[in-house]
Amino acid sequence: MQPRISILICTCGGQILEKIDLNVLHEKIKDLDHVTGIKTVDNLCKLETSDIRSYISDCDRVLFAGCSERSSLSFNEDRIHSLLEELGIDISMYEVANLREQCAWAHSDKNGATGKAIDMVRMAHAKLKLNTPAVKPPEIVKKALVIGGGPAGIQTAMEAGNSGIDVTLVEKNHYLGGHACQIPFLFQCEGWPSMCTSECIVPVQARNVIFNPNVTVLTNSLVQDIKKENGNFKVTIQKRAEFVNPERCVSCNKCSDICPEEVEREFDCNISKRKAIDKDFYLAIPDTYNIIEEACTKCGECLNVCPTDAIDLDAKVEIIEDTFGAIALATGFDSFDLSRLQELNYGENVISSLEMERLIARGFRDAPEHVVFQLCTGSRIEEGEEGVSYCSKTCCGVAVKQIERLTSMSPETEVSVVYNNDIRTYERALEQFYNDSKDLVDFINGRIMNVERNNGKLNITVESPDGDEEDIEADILVLSEAQIPAASDMIEKLGLRTDIYNYPLEGQPRILKPTESYIDRIYVAGAAGGPKIVQESIEQGITAAMRIVQALKGKKPQKFVSTVDSELCSACKICEKVCPHGAIQVDEEAVVDSAFCQGCGLCVSACPTHALQLTNFQDRQVLEQVEVAFGNLSEDEPRILALLCYWCSYAAGDLAGYNRLQLPENLRTIRIRCSSSINSGLIMEIFRRGVDGILIAGCPPKNCHHVSGNYMTAKRVRLMNMLMSQIGLSPSRLKWEYIGVPMWKTLGKSIKDMDKALRKLGRIKVRG
Ligand code: FES
Repeated sequence: MQPRISILICTCGGQILEKIDLNVLHEKIKDLDHVTGIKTVDNLCKLETSDIRSYISDCDRVLFAGCSERSSLSFNEDRIHSLLEELGIDISMYEVANLREQCAWAHSDKNGATGKAIDMVRMAHAKLKLNTPAVKPPEIVKKALVIGGGPAGIQTAMEAGNSGIDVTLVEKNHYLGGHACQIPFLFQCEGWPSMCTSECIVPVQARNVIFNPNVTVLTNSLVQDIKKENGNFKVTIQKRAEFVNPERCVSCNKCSDICPEEVEREFDCNISKRKAIDKDFYLAIPDTYNIIEEACTKCGECLNVCPTDAIDLDAKVEIIEDTFGAIALATGFDSFDLSRLQELNYGENVISSLEMERLIARGFRDAPEHVVFQLCTGSRIEEGEEGVSYCSKTCCGVAVKQIERLTSMSPETEVSVVYNNDIRTYERALEQFYNDSKDLVDFINGRIMNVERNNGKLNITVESPDGDEEDIEADILVLSEAQIPAASDMIEKLGLRTDIYNYPLEGQPRILKPTESYIDRIYVAGAAGGPKIVQESIEQGITAAMRIVQALKGKKPQKFVSTVDSELCSACKICEKVCPHGAIQVDEEAVVDSAFCQGCGLCVSACPTHALQLTNFQDRQVLEQVEVAFGNLSEDEPRILALLCYWCSYAAGDLAGYNRLQLPENLRTIRIRCSSSINSGLIMEIFRRGVDGILIAGCPPKNCHHVSGNYMTAKRVRLMNMLMSQIGLSPSRLKWEYIGVPMWKTLGKSIKDMDKALRKLGRIKVRG
């Protein structure tokens, strides 16, 4: 069936009318193929849908000529999508000629602007007639998997469960609550500083999730494998042998009393002992005993005393397979391995901050005379040192809280704090803890260079920033250790992109996407995404749950999706590697899962056999636009084409217009997907079709919406510049710029510079 295109021209309240002769425009576009009608209106954004419907009857595609769909404050692409849905038109079947921001506002000469406007409408029309219907994503399973049963994971599962989502929560320990259970006093950070006990907070949270009818809690379990399958996640979970049946166990302790085997209690950071059959701590939820397999001799004594027949020493591992539509990674943090800092002599009486929590929880047998804290241990390191260079954010706050607990338990204990240039109690309540501690504590700017043990005491050598050394005698040294990412294996299984510290990257723009990863429907909550206090982790759990609930409502059809021509695919796997969204799997050939594809086009430009294309952004659509882009420009004028990335750079182009920056009239713009959606062959073909200069602009460093598309383009342009020199084409005809939204002046300058350069170079003469 032939396309039927309706063109709606908006005067934008007369602003376009002032600069563009709409009668001429109308006359010049009325004979375009497949156009069923053209209507000029004053304020499209203010019209009722019923009016718009009456103007565009008898069409299946709409060309809007008016303001920018990227930057308009009242008629942007989200609004256009809703309008099209109301009108019953496929959301792929529209294009916009951005006559306001990038024509009327950018040029003062009415003739020139009118000529350019005609070209712009023709470009939009050339693309629109080749558009294909949006791709319907597969059915998303309305079930969520939460990996990690700490505060963030529990909250995610509970909130999603409360919203009617079927949730499975997998936790590696026998109990819920993660590290929060080990911390007796949890500080709260709004308003005045206060503390809650984990003995209160964690059971409340854990009970809420364990008795939630929509949540299945699998403790003592591990996620073994995750595969993407038809838009969903197929997951294999290993439930380790459950020697004590939680349905029967009544926590009477008889088994533990009789058990002859004693081991170190990991929950207490090994400062106390437990039996091979025991509870990790008395408030552990689920309320059941467990057996440490490696410590159990299977003597059977416990079987004889268990009043409910809850113990099965022959229990086996269970494998559970299920499919989920969304996953939340809430695996918390690991502590930096303090034994790597040999000068600190980590071991007896030199303890971690977490170990100090357990000491505070159990109480000191003898009050220590002097306790020294060292902040930032393994954090904020200089190059070449052991540790991580970031601030672990929570440690200063935890230390001042511990000092508050310690001095209230043992007022006679002397406390010193060795800090690294500054103290980072980053929040107003924590700052108050710090202020309160100032009268009680000796704060020393410096770092510990050496620790020796001597007759039960520690000799600690501290070096000041000036190089002066001071020796301190202490009973306990508490090292506020760095937080590092946990569960690297899980991050790998999920295929998440990570930062240099191995924390999963959040989707760009991060400000708008807390907890969202680069892979659709995988969320990262709590300390799994970077150091956080318990309160922040819970807040992130709530956010992740909201996102899950929204995401599981199902995906809308997508305008831009990669497709593979299997005849051309060589299964080289390059596309699988470059895809930042984990949407491509290559076995015999590349297969794109449309539910994960975000239509960035990185795979398209990376494919060496041109087997991949984007729906509604095919090479031939770009070339069709190029063919008509300069129809109203005189033959001797150099042709400049700016290929501006969908997000930052195109918006900068709009802001240039908004600020009335006057640009050369020989400039035409195409809003591309990620800057890296443009391949080298396409660039050369654009030159061959008569364009004299091409400017490609993408998001600034670290801001590409598809992780590294901007860097890939920068590299590609560098290589092409070298190639161009070799074939006698001036490299100044192809430019790359990092252009963020506010960089409209830089963009304008770059275009003007290119215009000047091209006028010197002249037009490219050879075609064919
Ligand atoms: Fe802008 Fe990748 S999205 S360069």
